[in-house]
Parts: sequence; C-alpha cells; structure tokens
Amino acid sequence: MRIAVLYWSKSGNTEKVANAIKEASEEKEHDVFFKKCEGPDENNDIDYFDYDLIFAGSPTYQWLSPKPFYDFLHDKFNKHKKEGLIKLKSPIIEGKNAVMFCTYSGPHTGINEAIPLTKYNGQFFEHIGFNILGEWHIVGEFHGSEENSTQGKLGDIRGLPSREDLDKVKSSVFEILEQIKK
Ligand SMILES: Cc1cc2nc3c(=O)[nH]c(=O)nc-3n(C[C@H](O)[C@H](O)[C@H](O)COP(=O)(O)O)c2cc1C
Repeated sequence: MRIAVLYWSKSGNTEKVANAIKEASEEKEHDVFFKKCEGPDENNDIDYFDYDLIFAGSPTYQWLSPKPFYDFLHDKFNKHKKEGLIKLKSPIIEGKNAVMFCTYSGPHTGINEAIPLTKYNGQFFEHIGFNILGEWHIVGEFHGSEENSTQGKLGDIRGLPSREDLDKVKSSVFEILEQIKK
C-alpha cells in the first residue's frame, strides 16, 4: 500500500506522532511518503490520489491547524475544486482512505479543543471522496508554558506524548492497516 504522512509541527509533539505512524507503516512493509507541510504545495509535488492511505496531522492552535498546515489543506482544496473534483454528495472512492490526527494540550476545555480540528481537516479529504477511518487526538506538553502544562484541564501533561502514547498510536495504525486489508 502507498501511504502518505503529511504533518506540521512546531515543538515536536506532532512530529513524534507522525514518526510513530511512519514506523508502524514501515514495520508492515508499506511505502511511506513523509512530509512536513510548511504551507501551500507550490510545485504541486503531492497528489493525494497517489496514496491509498493518508495520515494528516498538526497541533491545534485555537481548535484548528496552525497557518502552515491550514494553508496547505486550503491550497490543495482549491486545486481540487478547479479540477472539478468536489462533487455533490461527495461519492466515496473505493480504496482511498485517510486518518486525521492532532496533538493538543487542552488547557481550557480538554479534548474539545482538538475535536474541531480533526472534523474540519477531514472535510478536505471527505469532499474529494476519501473515506475517513479515524480521528486521533493525542495530548502533548504545551512547550514554553509551564502553567498550561501543569494547571490546565488535563493536569500535568509534561513529557507527553509518552513512549506509551506513541505505542498506542502504532497499535492504532496496525488496526487501520488490518481493516483496509479486508
Ligand atoms: C501558539 C500556540 C497556540 C496553542 N493553542 C492551543 C489551543 O488553543 N488549544 C490546545 O489544546 N492547545 C494549544 N496549543 C498547544 C499545542 O497544540 C500542543 O502543545 C501541541 O502538542 C504542540 O504540537 P507541536 O509540538 O507538534 O508543535 C497551542 C500552542 C501554541 C504554541
């Protein structure tokens, strides 16, 4: 299977998750295209339809993706729109799957700060016929803010995501790969 891991990360939490996804996929001997997306895909190097499974993730900043990743998704969507790929009823294309993931610190309202991001980002894929197989929200330390990392809704989140959290991500990847195989 051809798998793409498209992500953005500033302080490394999301990158750890992206790496865990890559590791798990490679352990099962799939080809992985791994890319930190820093904004619009100017040269059009990435074609979603080249992949059977796309993992797309970023940190949450005010419940959505930060500008580099947000711009990447928007740019792709605008190109797909121009190509006439956004159809009414968004028919599912067999064999095209995606998983949305994010890391978040949830200092105010916990996981509700992360859910809008995966729902929103998923729309960029569902609109072109991808089947959304998962929405993953992984807690990560709020680097640079001890208060947000210790006094927030989720308590002491320093050091997260932990090795155990990343192993859980890998198990979830294995489950998705099994699911698609059937
Ligand atoms: C500018 C900024 C804004 C953030 N806003 C939120 C937020 O609204 N809600 C939240 O849960 N976490 C917020 N965070 C925390 C990050 O989402 C979280 O720490 C994430 O794991 C960082 O990922 P990264 O290490 O891949 O950059 C914010 C972090 C920064 C730096």
